Amino acid sequence: MKKLVLVAALGLAPYFFAQEMVNKPVQAYQTEQYKSKKKAFVESLLAKMTVDEKIGQLNLPSAGDFTTGQAQSSNIGKKIEDGLVGGLFNIKGADKIRAVQKVAIEKSRLKIPLIFGMDVIHGYETTFPIPLGLAASWDMNLIQQSARVAANEASADGISWTFSPMTDISREPRWGRISEGSGEDPYLGSEIAKAMVYGYQGKDLSLSNTIMACVKHFALYGAGEAGMDYNTVDMSRVRMFNEFFPPYKAAVDAGVGSVMASFNEVDGMPATGNRWLQTEVLRNQWGFDGFVVTDYTGINEMVDHGVGDLQQVSALALKAGIDMDMVGEGFLTTLKKSLQEGKVTQAEIDLATRRVLEAKYDLGLFTDPYRYGDAKLAKKEVYSQKNRDIARNVAAQSMVLMKNENNVLPLKANGTVAVIGPLVNNKQNMTGTWSVAAQHANSVTLMKGLQDNFGKNVKFISAKGANIDYDEKLENIYAAHGKITDRDNRPKEVLLKEAVDVANKADVIILAIGESAEMSGESSSRTEITIPQSQIDLLHELKKTGKPIAMVLFTGRPLALTNVKDLPDAILNVWFAGSEAGNAIADVLYGKVNPSGKLPVTFPRSLGQVPIYYNHKNTGRPLSQEKVDKCEYERFRANYMDECNTPLYPFGYGLSYTQFAYSDMNVTNTNPKGNQTIQASINLRNTGNYDGAEVVQLYIRDIVGSNTRPVKELKGFQKVFLKKGESKRVTFTITPEDLKFYNHELKYDWEPGEFEIMIGTNSAEVQKTKINWSK
Ligand code: BGC
Repeated sequence: MKKLVLVAALGLAPYFFAQEMVNKPVQAYQTEQYKSKKKAFVESLLAKMTVDEKIGQLNLPSAGDFTTGQAQSSNIGKKIEDGLVGGLFNIKGADKIRAVQKVAIEKSRLKIPLIFGMDVIHGYETTFPIPLGLAASWDMNLIQQSARVAANEASADGISWTFSPMTDISREPRWGRISEGSGEDPYLGSEIAKAMVYGYQGKDLSLSNTIMACVKHFALYGAGEAGMDYNTVDMSRVRMFNEFFPPYKAAVDAGVGSVMASFNEVDGMPATGNRWLQTEVLRNQWGFDGFVVTDYTGINEMVDHGVGDLQQVSALALKAGIDMDMVGEGFLTTLKKSLQEGKVTQAEIDLATRRVLEAKYDLGLFTDPYRYGDAKLAKKEVYSQKNRDIARNVAAQSMVLMKNENNVLPLKANGTVAVIGPLVNNKQNMTGTWSVAAQHANSVTLMKGLQDNFGKNVKFISAKGANIDYDEKLENIYAAHGKITDRDNRPKEVLLKEAVDVANKADVIILAIGESAEMSGESSSRTEITIPQSQIDLLHELKKTGKPIAMVLFTGRPLALTNVKDLPDAILNVWFAGSEAGNAIADVLYGKVNPSGKLPVTFPRSLGQVPIYYNHKNTGRPLSQEKVDKCEYERFRANYMDECNTPLYPFGYGLSYTQFAYSDMNVTNTNPKGNQTIQASINLRNTGNYDGAEVVQLYIRDIVGSNTRPVKELKGFQKVFLKKGESKRVTFTITPEDLKFYNHELKYDWEPGEFEIMIGTNSAEVQKTKINWSK
């Protein structure tokens, strides 16, 4: 990230440089000497290994403490003794992991240590907001810090490898896993990918508190047809390189140690067997030199994809550049035969083995196989008060204020408040999806957060009001992974009446509605992206009481809130905020924290608009801006008869308890040449009644290109804190690097001509200036 300059208002205060958005750790140990030592060590080990032992290193079974897929592995202990296991995942606890490592070290012939993986996705036991929520903070330091805390906890508990970050760009709210990524934007996604990798891996992978990251799912998993999980992807390469690849590449550039292949196909070949993807792009073009692991049974699934039997697809995967086989044992059971039949080569098996061993070397496991995992340290580190405090802060920073009429928020800390909704008292659903290490008994519910922090001065009364969904069968599906929703089987009228009675006793209603945690995440695609009817009915009933309603929205995806948004006075989107959710929500509702989150993904008006994203192309028949703004239909233009072109809430949107005014945009040079740099700046003033932070966003449009170009692209952002009444000049430095794109020949360069420079509070509200950049 380029250096950004903040220049204080009035021109009198001194200039100062904001720090890099992420703290890039210097990997000083990666010297030539280190690399040649590693090479020599691994070569000498390889020379001692049998073919079976080599293939064993490529085998990654699941221990089954928790299961995420369709298969579990058996006889793992015996296989470890026989040298047939390279790593293990889904096992939790320092002592447990130590005991398994002991088998590898004491009972296997070559004593090669195992690598222990886990889906540490948004925290370990101390859980942070779901990744989409983390992205909404637009705060790279905080995101990096969340990954650091996760690494500290996980490593103390024996984990040396996390299957994170997931950097799949997605414009598909039906897809449940949109919750696990950073949203729709390649630039924001890339910054976050770097922050996460730096946070996990730190400055030296071999330190006992750093863990290896794994960027996933390579590639394009977020673009499955119709938002169905695991579904087919078909996309032009221009789009791949410009819009979907950048965050994976950013993780590679940040030194990520491993990559996970995705389930979907790319160009008619499953990603797991796609050599162009896993070798040509990833290694040859981007220079990745770590190892590639499949996703859960990714090799076996190629049989159903229809590209061969298990032996064929295993060979295909190895040849494509896959090094480790997660769970399916295709490598373990067929590679030797393929070698004997000449279908794979010894060199191919050696290459994959070498990469796995090198990763273990980098993790320091050959020096001390027990370096990760220390039960005493884990007791101190895991879920410590310090980590929980960090999580509480990050959670509050991730929340997005979407509406705040008559300044209903922040609430005044007095009177009686009705806290209503199906998840108000539900611990299991606070952390959100992919929180396998979380201890739900510890999660702070909304009710507890409110009581603990403001219960002295405020009387909180509560009612459930509605179940998550009228349909019990559906609600049971939603309550996956033990995240029970405490369904109340009384008739809906009884639940509603109880809620209305409670509301009538209160001055204000806090209404917490939306999705339960597992309505998003893996295998949680939906064909409706609305709040279930049971909860909308509750909202309508409460509206009739005439009391002000502050709606707290739980969600793992962009929801279509068109039928909802006019009813409450305020809407605070809290995503799934993690183990400190209740405390953080209370902090924001009562103004201890002024919300500053911004949407990392577009919220549509209706499902029919999907895919809808801010960085779209113009088409040959764009609707005039005036008509777009007025939502007026025009025949033979790119629009709908029955819906506006604009989303309900655009990318980058989010309010604050204070107001920010933008004025006097300026660029230092409207006719730059060649490699010159220019500064674009704007005056930002806090005109409201609270101190607060604003994410100032820079967008650029390349007006004429040799390929069609998006109507705008995010190219920079700064989170600026201003005291009430204070103002600052916010300045972005722009270089030709920011103008580059992949043309139809996949050449990455910039083209001279006119550009529109835009700065604003979200992707739809910007000030603009035109410049002409010549070569
Ligand atoms: C998911 C991956 C995950 C893996 C291991 C798969 O089902 O797609 O994201 O890392 O399981 O748990």
